[in-house]
Amino acid sequence: MASSSEAATANSEGHAAEGAERRDFLKMVTLATAAVGVCAVAWPFIDSMNPAKDTIAAGSPIDVDLSQVAPGQQIVVLWREKPILLVNRPAEALKTLQSSAMINRLRDPDSRVLQQPPYADNWHRSVKPEWAVLVGICTHLGCLPQYFPNPSANTPVADWPGGYLCPCHGSKYDLAGRVWQGVPAPFNLPVPPYNFLDARTVRIGENPPNVTYSLNDIVQI
Ligand code: FES
Repeated sequence: MASSSEAATANSEGHAAEGAERRDFLKMVTLATAAVGVCAVAWPFIDSMNPAKDTIAAGSPIDVDLSQVAPGQQIVVLWREKPILLVNRPAEALKTLQSSAMINRLRDPDSRVLQQPPYADNWHRSVKPEWAVLVGICTHLGCLPQYFPNPSANTPVADWPGGYLCPCHGSKYDLAGRVWQGVPAPFNLPVPPYNFLDARTVRIGENPPNVTYSLNDIVQI
């Protein structure tokens, strides 16, 4: 029989191997999706709003101008090599987030699992209801969920309320990044630290004053 220290070592080796596999999978999928994205234009990265590459590499906060993002539109920026999804959610989408039909489909509608900062621990999982700010990495194995905002056009499945569908194994999320029940992804999409500098400028990577939070605090990314 294995001693407790051997069991602990085996267990931690198992977790390490699992983590390595997940990272490898994420890299593979990131590369594959980058190639697909050229054609699909499903992820319009906003280069012009991003700072210099050395700023990104240093992991410094980045400022994003939201003034040109129309209701219903999503933009994607890179922060610490992670895709950050910024969505201007229209009133109709906010209504859907609060509907019992939507809530009944979700695994963690009240965000009980720590996947967001305290200032996004609310029904819209954000600072301002109209602006979603999410890390676009599926909590199953790290694919990039695709944006399908409309309930009535270009829907990936029947009776679609609008949200995200992960192309790898079919996990679904609503427009607040809350994961559906009965899909492989176990947790809601993470929310990064961020702060509004003014009505239309968001700083990714910095909390509002007097709040301490980082992606190291969450259960899974
Ligand atoms: S990686 Fe998204 S469903 Fe598996």
